[in-house]
Amino acid sequence: MKEVELKIVANVKVGKDVFLMRLRGDCTEIHNSGEFINIDLPNFYLRRPFSVCDFSYDYVDILYKVVGQGTKYMTTLSIGTKVKALIGLGNGFQIKRGKPLLIAGGIGIAPMISLAKAYNELGIQPTLLYGARTKEDLVLIDTLSELCHIMLCTEDGSIGFKGNIVQLLQKINPEFDYYYACGPMKMLEALAKTNSNGCVSLEARMGCGFGACMGCSIQTTKGYKRVCKEGPVFPANEVIF
Ligand SMILES: Cc1cc2nc3c(=O)[nH]c(=O)nc-3n(C[C@H](O)[C@H](O)[C@H](O)COP(=O)(O)OP(=O)(O)OC[C@H]3O[C@@H](n4cnc5c(N)ncnc54)[C@H](O)[C@@H]3O)c2cc1C
Ligand code: FES
Repeated sequence: MKEVELKIVANVKVGKDVFLMRLRGDCTEIHNSGEFINIDLPNFYLRRPFSVCDFSYDYVDILYKVVGQGTKYMTTLSIGTKVKALIGLGNGFQIKRGKPLLIAGGIGIAPMISLAKAYNELGIQPTLLYGARTKEDLVLIDTLSELCHIMLCTEDGSIGFKGNIVQLLQKINPEFDYYYACGPMKMLEALAKTNSNGCVSLEARMGCGFGACMGCSIQTTKGYKRVCKEGPVFPANEVIF
């Protein structure tokens, strides 16, 4: 973990209420997809956690959905603004050999770009199942299509399979060795109950973001664990939903 000052170099709307922000600075402490950063917004009490969407040694991208005052304020931040952030937080995804299946619901797509890139670097193009309520909620399809074999689903049928991710998974029954999932808790729970050979990236309300306050603890089969420290990625069969 490291506290750094990052400069906003892009902050663009990429979908309905969804923005892609690039922050430039010392990002050498970010090592894995699935990690998160915690941004200190001036005049907001707690830092806001966001998954690493893409990263290199000198930048990190986050994909954020406007849901409350903090994320609304972020949309107003202009290029050149400097923000403080804790980076290198959380365990991140463990890259496993074999055939991966990436599963994302809604803004749960955020960590899948860096994960897909990591697999592409190994010469593996993963399959991605990506779902949302409606077509406008699906973002960065062009970028994702270059990295993944992508299958879309929407609950209203406006694009792709009509239904949710779990129904899509049951219908197509893809061949895979290990899955990586991020999205709404209900989706992760349904996945974990039907497929144990994967991991889920969880969200929890956070205080400190680095393991000190226990505010983000969840129950697992191995006792209480902190989403910010032992997670946010957990084996699907360990989480007690
Ligand atoms: C590990 C992790 C990774 C995340 N990655 C992303 C991401 O890539 N993209 C994205 O859009 N969102 C992500 N979130 C959720 C994001 O942190 C919240 O949407 C954001 O903090 C909301 O802030 P707000 O001020 O707009 O909302 P408010 O509701 O006004 O926030 C009030 C407080 O609740 C917290 N909070 C609100 N919603 C959540 C939530 N869903 N999870 C955790 N804390 C929350 C806020 O941080 C803040 O402290 C992630 C959360 C976690 C824990
Ligand atoms: S947020 Fe403080 S321990 Fe996780």
